[in-house]
Formats: sequence, C-alpha cells, structure tokens
Amino acid sequence: MLWSMTRTTVRRGIQSAMFVSLSSSWLAACSRSAGSVGGNATSQSAVSAGVGDPAIPARVAATFPTGWHLPAGAKATFAPQAMAVSNSLDASAAAAEIMRAGGNAVDAAVALGFALAVAWPEAGNIGGGGYMVIRMADGRSVAVDYREIAPLAATRNMYLDAEGNLTDRSIDGHLSSGVPGAVAGLSAALAKYGTMSLAQVIQPAIRLARDGFVIDSALAGSMSRARTRVLKFSPTAAYFPNGVALKTGERLVQKDLARTLQAIAERGASAFYEGWIADSLVAEQKRGGGIITRDDLKRYVPALRTPINTTYRGFALVSMPPSSSGGVTNAEAMNILEQYPTLPAYGTAKWFHLVGSAYQRAFVDRNAKLGDPDFVKVPLAQLTSKAYAKLLRNTIDDTRATSTKQLEPKMAQAAREPTHTTHYSVVDKVGNAVATTTTLNNSWGSGVWVRGAGFMLNDEMDDFAAQLGKPNMYGLVQGEQNAIQPGKRMLSAMSPTIVLDRNGRVLLVVGAAGGPTIITGTSQVILNVIENRMSLADAMRAPRVHHQALPDSLTFETGGLTAAVIAELKGMGYGLKEQRALVNVNAIMRVHGGWEGVPEPRRSGGAVGY
Ligand code: GLY
Repeated sequence: MLWSMTRTTVRRGIQSAMFVSLSSSWLAACSRSAGSVGGNATSQSAVSAGVGDPAIPARVAATFPTGWHLPAGAKATFAPQAMAVSNSLDASAAAAEIMRAGGNAVDAAVALGFALAVAWPEAGNIGGGGYMVIRMADGRSVAVDYREIAPLAATRNMYLDAEGNLTDRSIDGHLSSGVPGAVAGLSAALAKYGTMSLAQVIQPAIRLARDGFVIDSALAGSMSRARTRVLKFSPTAAYFPNGVALKTGERLVQKDLARTLQAIAERGASAFYEGWIADSLVAEQKRGGGIITRDDLKRYVPALRTPINTTYRGFALVSMPPSSSGGVTNAEAMNILEQYPTLPAYGTAKWFHLVGSAYQRAFVDRNAKLGDPDFVKVPLAQLTSKAYAKLLRNTIDDTRATSTKQLEPKMAQAAREPTHTTHYSVVDKVGNAVATTTTLNNSWGSGVWVRGAGFMLNDEMDDFAAQLGKPNMYGLVQGEQNAIQPGKRMLSAMSPTIVLDRNGRVLLVVGAAGGPTIITGTSQVILNVIENRMSLADAMRAPRVHHQALPDSLTFETGGLTAAVIAELKGMGYGLKEQRALVNVNAIMRVHGGWEGVPEPRRSGGAVGY
C-alpha cells in the first residue's frame, strides 16, 4: 500500500542500519498490515529468544484461543545493541538516532519524550506530566516524578456545582488542567543521568515539528475522533487546518510547537516555566477560565524518588512509587501470586481466577490508601510486604470468586478507562534502561491547545477525587487520601517498570497506557515472561484480563477466553465484562545477543534499534 511503502522508504532512508518495526492498530480502521517494516530479516524466532543466556529461562511456545486476533508465534524486532519502543515510530527513531550519536538511554528517553509530544500528540506531551524509572548499568536507580500538581488556587470542591453535583469541568476545558511537569521532569532526568545537552536531544523533536511528519492511520483516527472536542476550545489547533482533521498519509507541520521546542533547547526548562511560553499558557488559561498562574509555573519542581524495589520469584522489579499507584499495586498483586508455589497454566479459568483475585485485592488498597506522599501518609511498607501478601492470599478461595464487598466494605469503586496516556521503553548498548509513562490524562487532554505555543494541556485534575465517594471520568471513586489540595499531585496508575534477571541485568523494560488497566496490563506482560516463559511477542499478544475491585467483575478481551473458560469463570461466581481491547503496552526484553522490542499490537507504534 502506498502509505506503507512511502513510510518505509522514508524511514529506511533516514535509518539505514537500524532495525525497525511498526505495529498497527486493529482498532483504528487501519488499512496497512501489522508487522515489521525492515526488521523481518533480523527478527528472532519467538521460541528461541531466550536460548543461550542462563539467566533467561528458555521460552515456551504459547497457545491462544482459536480465533484470537493476535496469533502466537509472531516475531519481535531484534537489535544487538540498543532499542527504543513507543507508540510512534518517528519518536522511537529519535531515541535510536540519539543513541547512535553516542547518547545513553536517558539521553534517548528524553529525546523520545519530546519527539512524542510532536508525533503522538494525543498523549505525548509537554503540557502534561509523567513518570520515568531509570536503572543505570552501574546499579543506580531512580524514579523521576513529574506528575502535574494542582494549581495554588485549586480547592477541594472546585468541580461541584451549586447543588453539590460533580460537573465535567475536571475533564473538559481550561479548568481541568494541572500544572504541567513534563519539561521540568525530562530536563531533570537529563541533567542528572544523561550525557548530552537538552539542545542536542531535543533536535529530532524540533525537526519533526518544523518539517512535519507523515501521519499514520492510528494518529489520523485519533485526530478525527478528537476533532469536535478540541476545536470547541481551540479553533486554531494545528492538527485541524481549516477545521479539518488530517488524513492518513498527510503531513502534520507544527510551527508554533517547533518555536516552543527551540526556545526550550536554547534556554532550558525555564523557557517553559518563566518565559514567553509561560505567558502564552497563562493567557490561554485566562481565556477559558483556568486558574494556572505564572507563580504556579515558576514553583513547579519534579521529585526524584526511590523506586519501589520488590521481587517476584527471584527477579527484581524496579517500579514507580507514589504519587503513582502503579508500582505499589503491581507489587502487591504479584506478591499475592508468588504465594502459590506454581500458578495454573495460562489460559485456564484458574489462571484468570487467581490473577484477577490478586488484582482485586491490590485495587481495594490502591483505591483507599494511596495518594501524594508529600501530602498524605501512605503505608508503603505494609502494601509491598510478602507477609501482608500471604494474608491476602489466604482470603482467596481457589475455586470461587470473592465479592469485593466482602473484602473491604469501605473500598472505593473503580471502572474501566479508555486508552489514553503513552508509555515508552529504552535500553542502550551498556545496559542502561529507562521506562517512562507520560500522559495528558484523557486523549488530547483538556481539549485546550495553547495558542502561540502549539501544545495541548492536560485534564489531569480529574485524577483527583473531585468529589469524594463519587466516580470520576473513568468511574474511579477514591477517598480522602486523593482529595484536591493546592500543590498536591493527583494519584496515578502509571507503572513504568524495569525487571532484572537473577544476575541483576535488565530483562524487561515495560509499562502501559490505559488508566487502571495500566497496572494489570503491565504485570500480565511480566507474568507471561517470567511465569509462562512466553517470548515477548507472545507475552504482548496474549489475551489480557482486568479486575479493579469495583465494579466487581473480571473484564476480558473479545475472543480472548474460550467458551469453556467463560462458562467455568461464571460458575465460580464471576461477573464477566467483555471489552474489545485492554491496555496499550510498549516493551523491550533482553534476549540472547541483544534486545527484542514490541510495540502494542492492539494499537500503533514502532520499535527501532541498532
Ligand atoms: N491519567 C491516568 C493516570 O495517571 O493513571
């Protein structure tokens, strides 16, 4: 097909010696085929991936239900030295370009972060925030928390109307934005762990914004879906020239954003937080009744935190601590599963029952006990302890579902979230690894595009408990711990995670987009690799489930469970919910002689290495 050929040709021309693969979205009415572009010759056989490295158990061929749309045995992109995987092929290529020029994984991850703000604007951003987990080859690790914070003028009940009802102002429009952290966070990570200047690593992003790039069907679909909402607040947004959404194969040029990125390249993060960009942001806020001020921007600082360090059957997990719930909740769920000497075979009702039950319990705690640790006390030691996991394991009836109400009467309610957010993974040739998840919250954030500066603003305020005991945009009903306070970070589910093998070397770099399903999707890929010994390609393609305590049901992907398993789970007392696709994961895995990269096969993206 013409688009695919053009795209391949362009990419090959730029990255002659790189190994590239592009995953396409089955959701996005995509006319091109999924699979690798230029990487087939170097892809490894799925089953042989771990062979030859004693720290990585040999892979075992997976089987999925007949008719499942992502067949087992697919190939990953292989590269011997370095790899980057994200929801944008162009952004992954930016990271590989930086590493080929001598940069390390942190340089590359920062380059990728800025490039994603250009090339995947529904979630990549400079107007939002995120989390980056870094594990250097010398053993140092850190978690960079650049989550947005509530503006100083924020108040606990700012999203309630006169009758005390929750409005949609925490979701749509200017008032829904938290103070963005992305530029400060990426800059801080680079300054402490990178080797290149901001001006160097931001160049690919400037080029993509200034010269434009060819949009693929996934981005075209996303733009088309977002058009009405974004134009309502931002009639001049660059994505919709003359009010029309760009189509697959057309070029998106973002001149304002190029100018913004150039200013950041020249003057660092302060250009964003104190210069004309800050003026544009504040002017945009004023235009629509937002409350972010110059003072808010000037005060923003990212936090460098100690990661959640836990183990699963001898593999070390390095993940994100609060203000994200991701690392803690995953640790708690995996600790519960570890209490079983062995787990049932993947694909059986018993597998989904135990995995779902572990998530259900971890989410009970997540919804009630977690919040910004700078504002509330978070019982981290308890939630991540093996002894506590043993207690929770003992609440699981191995043959029956437990009702969430029985487990914890005061728990918060939670529901499904659609796709939004975006995760990227990077490794370099010496084994430095970076897992980053970043978001505007909803796809295309608040719908507000900062005029003159060319970027979308987040609607992250909705991740707070905007009204205690009442569901937010995605049905999360959260407690006092996550109430709105000025300067506080809203609780997140983002779960960037680095898994080390039993010799302490990076095995997996993984994370996801998709609200609460981030947590369950990330850990299912890890479980598939460690527990089910799947190749990374199979681990990513394997049907997923999700349980978040309330609503008290197990969500599964259409076609992902056999009729017999569905019947068995119903017999165990599960309420089952079917969803077309769960979670958007991007992952890298160490294999014999190098790395495999797999972008989310349910969505879009690219793996680029060399
Ligand atoms: N905005 C989604 C999350 O942070 O979990």
